[in-house]
Amino acid sequence: MDFHQLLLNRHSIRRYTDQALNPEDVKLILEAALTSPSSKSARCWQFVAVEDKATLEALSKCKPVYAASVKDCKFAVVITVDPTKSEAYIEDAAFAGALMQLQAEALGIGSCWVQVRGRFAEDDEPSENVVRDILGIPYDMVVESIVTFGYSAETRKPVDPAKLMWEKVHVGKWRQE
Ligand SMILES: Cc1cc2nc3c(=O)[nH]c(=O)nc-3n(C[C@H](O)[C@H](O)[C@H](O)COP(=O)(O)O)c2cc1C
Repeated sequence: MDFHQLLLNRHSIRRYTDQALNPEDVKLILEAALTSPSSKSARCWQFVAVEDKATLEALSKCKPVYAASVKDCKFAVVITVDPTKSEAYIEDAAFAGALMQLQAEALGIGSCWVQVRGRFAEDDEPSENVVRDILGIPYDMVVESIVTFGYSAETRKPVDPAKLMWEKVHVGKWRQE
């Protein structure tokens, strides 16, 4: 498939079939993260790959809404970043997540970014702490997100290029309304 079509096809997938991912595909997804660009090449990220069902279920409780895909997925990558190694740690984390999602899409695997940093669990505990405690992540690492993966159990239509928001693009200089 050509890359533009892959971009049009990609959607956040939150419900997955029971089919497990094969280890070669898991490796390619992790390689995508490790190839991602990073500010000043600091590579301030570290990733926790999780397949264990009970661990995924526990992680899904890190926030009350929009974390259901964590419970349902077959594989997840928790993206953590060290803010002392790069002031652009959020961007570095986001880039790694985006590349993993695109690599997954190219393999026919659905994915979803689940935001952790800045979110809270039901008891108002920061979601980051919930994830840190479950996975033993040191408290000096920022837990940015959990990216979930699995074969899609949803049907999503590709984006229609005719409906893209071109009004958000300013050409040459900012357009005054
Ligand atoms: C920074 C960021 C945070 C997101 N957080 C969540 C989340 O916590 N849970 C979730 O289900 N989806 C989350 N998403 C996915 C968005 O909801 C999704 O990208 C958006 O609705 C557009 O849909 P699409 O990905 O299918 O194009 C997040 C996406 C981004 C970029």
